[in-house]
Amino acid sequence: MRKVLVVIGYFVFSVFSAQALASSESNQCELRLEANDRMQFVQKKLAVDIGCDTITITLKHIGKLPVAAMGHNVVVALESDMQGIAADSFKTGVANRYVAPDDQRVIAASEVIGGGESADVSFSTSELDPAQRYVFFCAAPGHWVMMKGELIISQ
Ligand code: CO
Repeated sequence: MRKVLVVIGYFVFSVFSAQALASSESNQCELRLEANDRMQFVQKKLAVDIGCDTITITLKHIGKLPVAAMGHNVVVALESDMQGIAADSFKTGVANRYVAPDDQRVIAASEVIGGGESADVSFSTSELDPAQRYVFFCAAPGHWVMMKGELIISQ
């Protein structure tokens, strides 16, 4: 009898674990963003749940062109900082993800990827102030004009 209870207990635990995993995947802590060969992000808005400790954006380059021709990344920053960061991208270079390593304006910056590749970038929601406006953009020189979107904070 005792062995049966242990088995049942293990089964119940497994079911609850699976449910916990499923619910964590369905909330807004993990976001997908697609970029293409036409210098565009497919998604123009991303909603982040302030209830998440960490937000992870997975950038997927759905085009075919290599980094040298159409490399993209995703940078998260205050909307008011975007143009300044983008202006500096001409001197920071692809190896630095087109941002200065010590740039305090940058909340998150992914590596630069080419067609068929993907990159994850994570940041803490403690860096976000719901009273502010945030954006995501590609920091490859000149790309921000076409490749920018709104990072909406939902509570
Ligand atoms: Co780009």
